Amino acid sequence: MTELPYPESCPDECRVAKKMAPVFKALGDYNRLCIVYLLAMDETGRLGVGDLARELGISQPAVSQHLKILKNEGIVESERIGFHVFFSFNRSRLAEIDGLFHDMQSLVQSRCDKQIILEKKIENPLNIVFICFSYTGTTKALMEGFHAVCGGDFVLVKTKKKYGTFTAYTTGCISSRKEEPDPVTPESIDVSDYDLLVLGVPVWAWKPAPASYSIISGLIGCEGKKVVICTTCCNNPGDCLPILRRSLEERGVTVVDEEVFLGKDAFDHEKRNEFVSRILDVYKF
Ligand SMILES: Cc1cc2nc3c(=O)[nH]c(=O)nc-3n(C[C@H](O)[C@H](O)[C@H](O)COP(=O)(O)O)c2cc1C
Repeated sequence: MTELPYPESCPDECRVAKKMAPVFKALGDYNRLCIVYLLAMDETGRLGVGDLARELGISQPAVSQHLKILKNEGIVESERIGFHVFFSFNRSRLAEIDGLFHDMQSLVQSRCDKQIILEKKIENPLNIVFICFSYTGTTKALMEGFHAVCGGDFVLVKTKKKYGTFTAYTTGCISSRKEEPDPVTPESIDVSDYDLLVLGVPVWAWKPAPASYSIISGLIGCEGKKVVICTTCCNNPGDCLPILRRSLEERGVTVVDEEVFLGKDAFDHEKRNEFVSRILDVYKF
């Protein structure tokens, strides 16, 4: 594999680029990409230079040259059996390359997401706080994504009660049905200095998870503040949003926007960005 040198001070993204460049070079050829496809689709494990040359309609020396380049990058492997050399594609190397693509894509994506802030002509960092309770991590991941784009502060709230899967679905759901608060840490969150609050909580038994009530009652300086509510669930939010809205309004907070993220919606990039855009709109006006 070709290793390009890079200075120690090089940022992480630059390191990825150095690893990607030789791979792009190796794959940046129509015939070589066809070879990768043919090897990927091959179920016999018996493809040789002659077979590939026939499939591609090019000479055997040309195929050998292409295979050499692909082998250099670890994309293709060969095995000699008797007088024959068979080629296969290297799954683990392809998985590694896929990981590099993914790193690069996430990096570009996060920079693109940041463009929303520039388009809205809002100065970063925003005076905003993301407050989140999450039991299995979905709401947390979603809110962390919003926070990564918008900046501001992030408060992750935990329940003092330690739930297991069984107790969450039994005692947790019973508390939720009765709209009983679960004690949380931190017990109070001072939001008096923020211009906007974004509250993210999951749905439990068609209502807000019991931690939500303690979060709301523990808000300090929330009167007159704007809040955006974000809730996550599998498929049925039930009365979660109206209950949250009512509880927040009882604390003198104005709910300016709300959204439910159902199941895989939480990982739907377009939906997430559309919501970030709405957060920024209500922040601005
Ligand atoms: C105790 C419990 C009760 C739940 N009740 C509901 C429900 O009534 N409706 C629903 O669509 N999803 C329900 N779910 C699924 C969660 O709302 C959903 O997976 C959510 O995204 C989890 O968020 P989290 O990972 O931040 O905890 C429930 C999950 C748990 C653990």
